[in-house]
Amino acid sequence: MTVASRIAIDGPAASGKSTIGKMVAECLGYLYFDTGVMYRAVTWASLERGIPISDEVAVTRLAQELHIDVTRPTVADRRQYTVLVDGVDVTWEIRRPEVDAAVSPVSAYPGVRAALTAQQRRIGAAGRVVMVGRDIGTVVMPDADLKVYLDAAVAERARRRYCEIIARGEPATYEDVLRGMEERDAIDSSRATAPLCAAPDAVVLDTTRLSIEGVVQVVMRLVNQAQEK
Ligand code: CDP
Repeated sequence: MTVASRIAIDGPAASGKSTIGKMVAECLGYLYFDTGVMYRAVTWASLERGIPISDEVAVTRLAQELHIDVTRPTVADRRQYTVLVDGVDVTWEIRRPEVDAAVSPVSAYPGVRAALTAQQRRIGAAGRVVMVGRDIGTVVMPDADLKVYLDAAVAERARRRYCEIIARGEPATYEDVLRGMEERDAIDSSRATAPLCAAPDAVVLDTTRLSIEGVVQVVMRLVNQAQEK
């Protein structure tokens, strides 16, 4: 039996997509690709170059021109991968609060999405990939062999993200993290182009009370049941 080759995992911030996606990809020996990195890279570069986030034309041009590379980790600092923007290592910079605050408006621009979606589709077409994001099952790989939508209560997602930030030694308050996450969820779910939502044929998993290992087990069972299309 051929198992699923193209796996789409979507869901809101801190629903477990990247942790689960990475572990499932490792179990299968597949490429793990986190599409959020690309939206974050464009946002980081806009801020870095002083391009106002409200300037849709300039931000879109940047998305079209920027060279974004995602490689195996090049530094042993618990990163999942290394992100290079025009050759500069921005792996941690793209996680900064300024990027968190500006990434959803940037991701709502149709031209930005078109530029990044085209690159993501090329990666997906090669198969043997676990791709995570907001619109993978709906827009980027609508014919994926398996679609999983991870969700969790916003208070639990904010707790997880707060713990991650504190573990990195950065300052944060739970309330700020919660507020920022609610704002991002609202923009991501209500935008006109490729809003965050579960594909009709996605398996929806609520991870609020599940352990990481528990979610990985469920997803691996689904992978083994899914046929390659
Ligand atoms: O890690 P976290 O879930 O907080 O965010 P992320 O996956 O890195 O995505 C950051 C932002 O990029 C999201 O809030 C979305 O606005 C946008 N995004 C998107 O629009 N489409 C995707 N496929 C992935 C991310």
